[in-house]
Amino acid sequence: MDSKWRVAVVGATGLVGREVLAALAEAGHPDTAVTALASERSVGVEAPYGHSSLEVEAATPEALRGQALVVLAVPAEVARTLAPEAQKAGAWVVDVSRAFLSDLSVPLAAPGFRGNGLERPFPGRTVRVPGPVALGLMRTVEPLRAAYGVTEAHLTALLGASSGGARGLTELEQTTAQLLSGRELEPTHFPHRLAFNLVPQVGPFSEASGGTLEELSWRAEVTLLWGPGAPPLDGTAVLAPLFHGAMLALQLRLEKAASLAEVRDLLRAAPGLKLLDVPTERVYPMPMLVSSDASILVGRVRASAGRADVLELVAALDGPAVVGHAAVAAGEELLQRSLPH
Ligand SMILES: NC(=O)c1ccc[n+]([C@@H]2O[C@H](COP(=O)([O-])OP(=O)(O)OC[C@H]3O[C@@H](n4cnc5c(N)ncnc54)[C@H](OP(=O)(O)O)[C@@H]3O)[C@@H](O)[C@H]2O)c1
Repeated sequence: MDSKWRVAVVGATGLVGREVLAALAEAGHPDTAVTALASERSVGVEAPYGHSSLEVEAATPEALRGQALVVLAVPAEVARTLAPEAQKAGAWVVDVSRAFLSDLSVPLAAPGFRGNGLERPFPGRTVRVPGPVALGLMRTVEPLRAAYGVTEAHLTALLGASSGGARGLTELEQTTAQLLSGRELEPTHFPHRLAFNLVPQVGPFSEASGGTLEELSWRAEVTLLWGPGAPPLDGTAVLAPLFHGAMLALQLRLEKAASLAEVRDLLRAAPGLKLLDVPTERVYPMPMLVSSDASILVGRVRASAGRADVLELVAALDGPAVVGHAAVAAGEELLQRSLPH
């Protein structure tokens, strides 16, 4: 990014917004001017930015004016209003919500993947980034797809309370504390009590398919990112009573048999992945190992029931960190387009 860029992060007090600020600070573009925005409720709050902090301002139309890039890390209904405003003010807009999931004019931006929507012309200045499960799955599967071909993928995703934003964390904390003191609180954010429970519903159900919004989103995003020849992907999303992080259990059917040693070498060399795979020494991915880290931990690599063409593995990731970094990577690519060639 050039030093003249002004970048606004809307939702800077939220779980994803904080990770967007962390990724921007980490990228270390020296004189990029970053503004932290949120709702009126948060005006004056300090949002961490690298070793310092930024005072949060209200996300008014004036605050969006003059920005080269606006990253929206806000609820979908807020993104639907702010994206056109920021775009009209001349900014590139990166949205992390599902506001534009079925809007084909808003491309899915994922630099590094074959189906990166930034590779093709698109009409507006707004793009969206994939959710953390699609990104975790694609990063894990891509090196194996390239080496062996993948004909089918099956996924179980255990998602912690952070997948429901700051309110999700608060609800898990409060319901856990209340239950430990012998009282039960009615959930208001999740469909059922999450404390000491597992809930096989993330987002509303689609009556037509029986899947949830979360599950349908993975399928749609992975199909786009995979590009031509995307294999069928099926799976179940489950809310799990952990605060941060997620665990994916993956089964992949390959076009040809694979050697497990070679699979581990491919995963070890893949960008954004860290292989943790010495199960006998209790070394494997766990959400607690990846808090606020955008890497995807992979391990428990094995052949399914002795079949060398069917692999089982697990991956752990921190959703807000993965998405925050993906949003900054997409923003950097968009800003490069504005540089004179
Ligand atoms: N959490 C995840 O793992 C995850 C993963 C992928 C995508 N997402 C998506 O990312 C978005 C943010 O999620 P999150 O988990 O970060 O939620 P969050 O922790 O609840 O944060 C929401 C942020 O939006 C701000 N906000 C709310 N209403 C606003 C308004 N009217 N104007 C300006 N700012 C407003 C909030 O500001 P205040 O603090 O002032 O209320 C807060 O900064 C959502 O669309 C979510 O679906 C989340």
